[in-house]
Amino acid sequence: MTIGIIGGTGIYEIVELGEDVKTRVIDTPYGPSPEMSLFKLHDKDVVFMSRHSVGHAKPPHMINYQANIWAMKEMGVERIMATNAVGSLDMPIKPGDLVVPHDFLDFTKMRKNTFYDDRVVHVDVTEPYCPELRDILISSGQVIGEGVYICTEGPRFETTAEIRMYRRLGGTVVGMTGLPELVLARELEMCYASICTVSNYGASISPVKLTIDEVFEEVEKKRLLLIELISDIISKIPENCSCPCVHALEGAEVKPSLESEDL
Ligand code: HPA
Repeated sequence: MTIGIIGGTGIYEIVELGEDVKTRVIDTPYGPSPEMSLFKLHDKDVVFMSRHSVGHAKPPHMINYQANIWAMKEMGVERIMATNAVGSLDMPIKPGDLVVPHDFLDFTKMRKNTFYDDRVVHVDVTEPYCPELRDILISSGQVIGEGVYICTEGPRFETTAEIRMYRRLGGTVVGMTGLPELVLARELEMCYASICTVSNYGASISPVKLTIDEVFEEVEKKRLLLIELISDIISKIPENCSCPCVHALEGAEVKPSLESEDL
């Protein structure tokens, strides 16, 4: 079982807990991967990748999600744990809380969101986040175990009307990096769960102007706890999955002879 970690801001130090650390960059059909760190932790193979590339170089809408996820698959990763910074849309969920979403609403606009441009593949995302990984995360007792993740295109923060709309639609947290990452992982039959660090209240919920300093400061406060939590989760991930994610392509492809005009 190889476990992938896609880190948002500031959890690179997880690599320092590992043994036999090696770094790799690979070519994918979508361009080069970011630098990945391969190591052993709790006797498991782990691949760590910084989503924004080294030094937080890429804004959310410019991340090469296809290359990142393809590279994870090439490294033999079967289960991905991601971390994302988010704003809260729900007053009881406050900065500093950790949320493990169970569903999403996708408001991204111009991202490459599939590997299947030349085959007709419709993966099922009724339950988009891996239920087994989520259960392990929830059993830590340190996270809010459900929530709807709203993904915006960014890179700007939201307007007052957008926040009002997202709340009415049932959103719990808002971020810019969760999609299409998780859908691409599903398309390659990898499990995916996310731990979202709430760094702020959504714009206009909080009376003060939202700044990136506020986001980074709150993420920094949670950094060590998050690294400990991920390390603990890695120790608990079973060798074999019993979740449906690994069979995501079964029944998903339109075979040329069965082509339907409705889709
Ligand atoms: N909006 C969008 N993305 C974010 C936010 C936010 O409030 N906080 C952290 N990432």
